Amino acid sequence: MTATTIKSFTAPEKGHLTPDMVESFECDGVVVLSDFVSEPACRRLRERALELVDNFDPNSVRSIFSAMQQTQLGDSYFEESGDKIRFFFEQDAFDTDGNLKRSKAESLNKLGHAMHDLDPVFDSFSRTPELAAIVDSLGYNDPVILQSMYIFKPPRIGGEVYCHQDSTFLYTEPETCIGFWFALEDATLENGCMHFIPGAHKGPLKDLHYRDSDGKMTFKTLDNTPWPENATVPAEVKAGSVVIFHGRAPHLSGANLSDHSRHAYTLHVIERKSHYPAENWLQRSAALPLRGFK
Ligand code: FE2
Repeated sequence: MTATTIKSFTAPEKGHLTPDMVESFECDGVVVLSDFVSEPACRRLRERALELVDNFDPNSVRSIFSAMQQTQLGDSYFEESGDKIRFFFEQDAFDTDGNLKRSKAESLNKLGHAMHDLDPVFDSFSRTPELAAIVDSLGYNDPVILQSMYIFKPPRIGGEVYCHQDSTFLYTEPETCIGFWFALEDATLENGCMHFIPGAHKGPLKDLHYRDSDGKMTFKTLDNTPWPENATVPAEVKAGSVVIFHGRAPHLSGANLSDHSRHAYTLHVIERKSHYPAENWLQRSAALPLRGFK
């Protein structure tokens, strides 16, 4: 039977997951650990993100991240961001004259995709013994952190994200992508928390996002059966929680209809030895090799 709630546990002190936690993850494709990140650590990351935003000149770029498409086809600013820190706006951030309607922090969709390797504050948030222990508990031998994203979900314009699987975008053979979503502020139904279809990670990968022989990013449908109707379950979580989810776990998030931001930080981890196709959108230069948790 499909679960009607996302299972949540208090984070284990040293990170090692208990058999119950691992079983929940394997059964549902998602599990929540509350109180995983301290309030000062959440605040420090929020402050650092806002410092980066303060130093960013929005006139230098006008890259809009389409949350519904999860990408900007043909946008080199996005496609070359795998080993950089870049800034992506919400679709509704600009007025008809092309000017920002609100402050920068209230206009951005996200930062991506290598803060964890390029910024010391993000690095130390991302590489904790507790997170390494979780990854170890889930059977990873030589994990590497592939990407990081800081998600703003700004008040009123924070866009909806359609139902997708992250292995569509971060595909490896075998598939080893796993996501960690850290709530830096409370995530609620009103401000656009994540939703999952528990157990659906056991089904096939539906789509593949890849670079075709002309160098253009495109989607290929691998399985066109629709997601089961009315099967999504919200993951309302408190700040400091981490949501751990399988690369095939279908998930979405609603628009932020509230007057408050819903900041979150995500990491995606893969097994170093899994094959990483040259057709994947996210690529790294040799100057910035992927690193694990040390
Ligand atoms: Fe996702």
